[in-house]
Amino acid sequence: MSILEILEFPDSRLRKKALPVTNVTEKEYDLAKQMLSSMYQAPGIGLAATQVNVHQRLIVCDVSEHQDSPLILINPVLKESFGSAESQEGCLSVPGFHETVTRASEILVAAIDEHGNPISKEADGLLAICIQHEMDHLDGKLFVDYLSSTKRQLIRKKLLKIQKLKD
Ligand code: NI
Repeated sequence: MSILEILEFPDSRLRKKALPVTNVTEKEYDLAKQMLSSMYQAPGIGLAATQVNVHQRLIVCDVSEHQDSPLILINPVLKESFGSAESQEGCLSVPGFHETVTRASEILVAAIDEHGNPISKEADGLLAICIQHEMDHLDGKLFVDYLSSTKRQLIRKKLLKIQKLKD
């Protein structure tokens, strides 16, 4: 299975707002599977279609220790959220940086699964953080947006430097 290229901050394509998936077909299922392998390979615990330059509302997460509990959410919508929790977040689109972000500690999300069936997913702990982080990507938002602009600019500068060296 091919490994998808993951866009890196400050690539402007990461700022695009993703459109709802209108019909779940084999194509979406294949995309989700490719996203999961790319995420496992990275390695990471979550990936949004936006990050692989597909601007459709589809995310994948797996916070299990052995990468054996994949979760695919299509058109996820946050229905309820409770509490707040601080955690150290990273992102495959912002490699090498981890910063503290505050998010809801428990969430209820409505979505469609990879077979096209509506589902309702309750999450807490790391999975709740992961889902919120990935859902942000679909709206063109990155975890660095929660940081001070000084910190964000610093990360931007450092990443641009590294990206230039790789070109
Ligand atoms: Ni991310």
